[in-house]
Amino acid sequence: MADVYTNPEKHVVLSNNVKMPILGLGTSHDGGYSHEAVVYALKNCGYRHIDTAKRYGCERYIAQAVKASGVPREEIFLATKCWPTDYGTTTTKEALLGSCERLAVDYLDMYLMHWPEVSSGVKDRKQLLQETWRALEVLLDEERVRVIGVSNFLERHLEMILEECSVVPHVNQCEFHPFNNPKVLRQFCADRNIQFEGYCPLGNGQILSDPQIQEIARVYSRSPAQVLIRWNLQSRVVCIPKSTKEHRVNENSQVYDFALTQEDMMTLDNMKQSLTCMDWSSIQTKIDNPLPDGYKLKIVKPPLEP
Ligand SMILES: NC(=O)c1ccc[n+]([C@@H]2O[C@H](COP(=O)([O-])OP(=O)(O)OC[C@H]3O[C@@H](n4cnc5c(N)ncnc54)[C@H](OP(=O)(O)O)[C@@H]3O)[C@@H](O)[C@H]2O)c1
Repeated sequence: MADVYTNPEKHVVLSNNVKMPILGLGTSHDGGYSHEAVVYALKNCGYRHIDTAKRYGCERYIAQAVKASGVPREEIFLATKCWPTDYGTTTTKEALLGSCERLAVDYLDMYLMHWPEVSSGVKDRKQLLQETWRALEVLLDEERVRVIGVSNFLERHLEMILEECSVVPHVNQCEFHPFNNPKVLRQFCADRNIQFEGYCPLGNGQILSDPQIQEIARVYSRSPAQVLIRWNLQSRVVCIPKSTKEHRVNENSQVYDFALTQEDMMTLDNMKQSLTCMDWSSIQTKIDNPLPDGYKLKIVKPPLEP
């Protein structure tokens, strides 16, 4: 069994006692998908956590990569997300089963509600979010999934779920890097034992050239990406950097043999809040737009034909 589950530095223990590797590999339709990079991450770099979503359109490629890696399925923490057009009692279950089929697994490790927004035709958003959450609770009971959570939920959205739920979300996945550090939301989650998970840890590549980050990286003889990932880990935030390049996937995993000082942690904790990678204003249009899942997906390195 990979040491991510035995070394406490390499995982977080969720409120239901499930161990979640603190470092995962992001995959998405944005910026491309590389089969070789995912296989390499699992086989050569010790990654045991993959983040994806139905929306990204690469679940079936991940199934091929997991198979090609030879890593046993039960060692891998597989997380995917339910797109808002699938919200609802029966549709959520169908969506989860569809994801399982594409990922070639009979259970998921984590299933998240992707956004707190819903189709504009829906009259009662709160009711639909609560109904969907209830469906996730049932899927948890049925052992179709080990961890349930939400993504992009702010305090007011979490309140809607907390009002009615019997299981408090185990995880909330939101944008997180030094230039977008939602401290109040993180504290809200911590107070309720909701594990905070960050996406865009490298600010989608845009913050790697920031002079302050580069200066810290220089002092440790590390890359800016490694410093940013290490800041996530020391903050105990689950971190899912994405790369389509094997050498970067490897670089991003070499983060357990150095530690940032308290002073550098504080510098990174208190940077100017100046970058939002995810364009929230376009989400409603995307939910209402009939574009297919993976419409943006560009396969950088495809799996070889069997
Ligand atoms: N829940 C949500 O709504 C949501 C939204 C966005 C993202 N996510 C998840 O979070 C994951 C990560 O977010 P993200 O992909 O948007 O951003 P990210 O991980 O912050 O950055 C990825 C970008 O950085 C580059 N990169 C990666 N490692 C690098 C390195 N060591 N040195 C230099 N450049 C490097 C990549 O390019 P190359 O590929 O060329 O290396 C890519 O352009 C996604 O894959 C997805 O799983 C979730």
